[in-house]
Amino acid sequence: MYTLEDVDTDKLPKHVAVIMDGNGRWAKERGRLRVFGHENGVEAVRRTVENCAKLQIQFLTLYAFSTENWNRPKLEVETLMKLLVASLRKEVKTLNKNNIRLKTIGNIQSLPSKAQKELSEVISKTSKNSGMTLTLALSYGSREEIKSAVKDIASKVKNNIISPENIDETVINTHLYTHFLPDVDLLIRTSGEQRISNFLLWQIAYAELYFNDVFWPDFSEHHLVEAILSYQNRERRFGKTSEQLN
Ligand code: IPE
Ligand code: IPE
Ligand code: MG
Repeated sequence: MYTLEDVDTDKLPKHVAVIMDGNGRWAKERGRLRVFGHENGVEAVRRTVENCAKLQIQFLTLYAFSTENWNRPKLEVETLMKLLVASLRKEVKTLNKNNIRLKTIGNIQSLPSKAQKELSEVISKTSKNSGMTLTLALSYGSREEIKSAVKDIASKVKNNIISPENIDETVINTHLYTHFLPDVDLLIRTSGEQRISNFLLWQIAYAELYFNDVFWPDFSEHHLVEAILSYQNRERRFGKTSEQLN
């Protein structure tokens, strides 16, 4: 079993993003309702956040609810929103203890008002923390994010705030929900699915992708370290040749 001590702290990914998948199948395997899987997924979130903070990862982004997830059965959506509110309430202390600042990306206005209120409270109560930035992707869809960035930029062009020649990658970056984040270095997806599901399309251009078969509620310190070790054994060439890097 790997532990945090196995990680080379000189070669840490700066930004880790996780598609936390497999709660429903985890519950099904146990003959339980899908929501039971989500309830148990919360513990894996807590574990992962704490372990990343201990490793001094600077940015952790978790895909918690996609724009497409609104199409799930009403009971499931309601339970996920309730779990969100309950966990946020419970976790403020731990976030502060670990010097973690909370942020969100996504269409937050579409969340129930209770969840919005809870989020903005925790965000403000943790805003002075200077350790890891934990970003929750909630009602997040990458295409929607890009669409809204394009709209904002277009309206600035129309009002002569930006000229079309000056639209570069930096301008695009600053109009995305993720403007406060660096590009993703390591993207992890659990549960055996090997797809992106509308997550951070622009931001993962050069991310290292890591997939495993574990259902999210079972994702442990061992699995996190396994993913980071895989990352640390790769050569990131960014288009160059191996020789150029050495
Ligand atoms: C991930 O688990 C959690 C959310 C998408 C909110 P799923 O609920 O997608 O679980 P599976 O993929 O159906 O097993
Ligand atoms: C992606 O998982 C969204 C989250 C983990 C929040 P899904 O389970 O919704 O993705 P698909 O539908 O299987 O691609
Ligand atoms: Mg899923």
